[in-house]
Amino acid sequence: VNTTNTSMWNYSDYFVKGVKYTIFISIVASVLGVLIGITLALMRFTKVKFFHALALCYVEFVRGTPLMVQVMFVYFGIGSIIDISALLAGIIAISLNSGAYVAEIIRGGIDSIDAGQTEAAASLGLPHYDTMRFVILPQAFKNIWPALGNEFISLVKESSIVSIIGVTDLIYQANLVRANTYRGIMPIFVVMVLYFVMTFILTRILNYYEMKMRSPE
Ligand code: ARG
Repeated sequence: VNTTNTSMWNYSDYFVKGVKYTIFISIVASVLGVLIGITLALMRFTKVKFFHALALCYVEFVRGTPLMVQVMFVYFGIGSIIDISALLAGIIAISLNSGAYVAEIIRGGIDSIDAGQTEAAASLGLPHYDTMRFVILPQAFKNIWPALGNEFISLVKESSIVSIIGVTDLIYQANLVRANTYRGIMPIFVVMVLYFVMTFILTRILNYYEMKMRSPE
């Protein structure tokens, strides 16, 4: 019987490293994802048909294929041209993926504002740009912010897929601990709890700000 150090506490460094990677990937990919999402949303609202169609195809295609395949495609695809680290490839893939979801969040937020608002602004003689800036967007943001928060939480969980290309995130660390301790289940359980702690804390923070945002009314 193996009585050497198989306690999970001895591997806390592994788990801490995994948590750091997972949070880092999620934060960077969220920021890039929002930038990509805003760009796509703008493209969809332009009257230039080509940009509109391009953004539409992108969003449909990215949302219609598994993130796992996208991660592998980016890593091996870019990797066949230039030397790229798994971490960078993972971040690029998740950012590109999240951008499509963020574009839909923004579009949904804007579409959710009643057409009567636009009509009322037009009847007051407000130009289109000002209507967007002062009437539609401030209302749309009430729906967009919480949804972006949820997207960030999704990324914390979904980023676990980058372990397949060897990024040393939480899942990857769990597998290292499993190999070192010969314990098949416990490391996975620890990782599951760690993910839950992260999303639970994030959800509380988001709910707090959502509540604060609604209270002035
Ligand atoms: N698991 C789903 C997939 O593989 C969703 C991934 C991305 N989700 C997101 N909110 N960015 O396609």
